Amino acid sequence: MSKDIDWGSLGFGYIQTDKRFVANYKDGAWDAGTLTGDATVTMSECACVLQYAQTCFEGLKAYRTEDGRVVCFRPDLNAARMADSCRRLEMPVFPEERFVQAVHEVVAANLDFVPPYGSGATLYLRPFMFGSNAVIGVKPATEFQFRIFCTPVGPYFKGGAKPITIRVSDFDRAAPHGTGHIKAGLNYAMSLHAIMDAHRQGFAENMYLDPATRSKVEETGGANFIFITKDGKLVTPKSNSILPSITRRSLMVVAERYLGMPVEHREVLLSELGDFAECGLCGTAAVISPVGKVVDHGREICFPSGMEQMGSYTQKLYDTLTGIQMGRIPAPEGWLHTIA
Ligand code: PLP
Ligand code: COI
Repeated sequence: MSKDIDWGSLGFGYIQTDKRFVANYKDGAWDAGTLTGDATVTMSECACVLQYAQTCFEGLKAYRTEDGRVVCFRPDLNAARMADSCRRLEMPVFPEERFVQAVHEVVAANLDFVPPYGSGATLYLRPFMFGSNAVIGVKPATEFQFRIFCTPVGPYFKGGAKPITIRVSDFDRAAPHGTGHIKAGLNYAMSLHAIMDAHRQGFAENMYLDPATRSKVEETGGANFIFITKDGKLVTPKSNSILPSITRRSLMVVAERYLGMPVEHREVLLSELGDFAECGLCGTAAVISPVGKVVDHGREICFPSGMEQMGSYTQKLYDTLTGIQMGRIPAPEGWLHTIA
């Protein structure tokens, strides 16, 4: 029985659901963790997360498949990436098998919130961890909380599959040798002014460049880039300050194995953008959002795929990836976890 929600008109917002998972770390160990109906967090005013932003998060989705199952997509990769984030932020790793188990439990406890197959909506899961005890000198917390909540969502960008216009940002989201490669809350704090400034100027997102030389394409605030060459190759930027997107890594496999497209994972220069036929943003929230135009300080780079619909290669990648996620196309071994 699905909840009484107008699934088709959902945007990317928060709706409180029934249950979430909570585990606490104290005296050097994680407790057993539990599902709770309490959607609030109470902690010290001096908690490390509040003073020094010691927090990281993840994002993944659960889907209803064509044959009526409820599945989630590659949660083991989110568990591994969160472990990397925790190590970089001096936080204790929540064991990867327990992370995957907790994802299963949260989805199973909120089945009524998994949108119907074909509705265009999905259930977004947000695992996160924060330093919870009082810390006033700059040092890591010793107590932590790990939580996973879920919320049904629609498209991340208004208009769904309609191409967006983005701008080359003068702000950076990451520093050389910084934290761009992990999912630290601080990276998103860095991007808040940049995204509001972009919106005020009429752009949907920022294209961030490499912070050291400002000559190479990195990513946006919440998604990696994919480019398609005129001869049908998938090119995607490589950099050690980009978040290793699970969607992007999956698309590289989809392109090669399912669509027979050559794949290049390499540095992409801002100066070569005009050579590409198609451009898209990929991520759990973004899925694949086509980019029609990039504006670089008044210079417009318009992709031949245009502003009306996604390009044909992007469309094939989108159809194949979402086909795998919704059970219409056989998934590579281990990609789908059946929950119900
Ligand atoms: N890049 C950034 C900065 C992100 O926040 C995200 C979202 O998770 C992505 C890329 C896409 O990663 P994924 O495909 O694992 O969701
Ligand atoms: C995701 O795609 O899961 C993200 O985290 C991107 C954004 C919502 C922060």
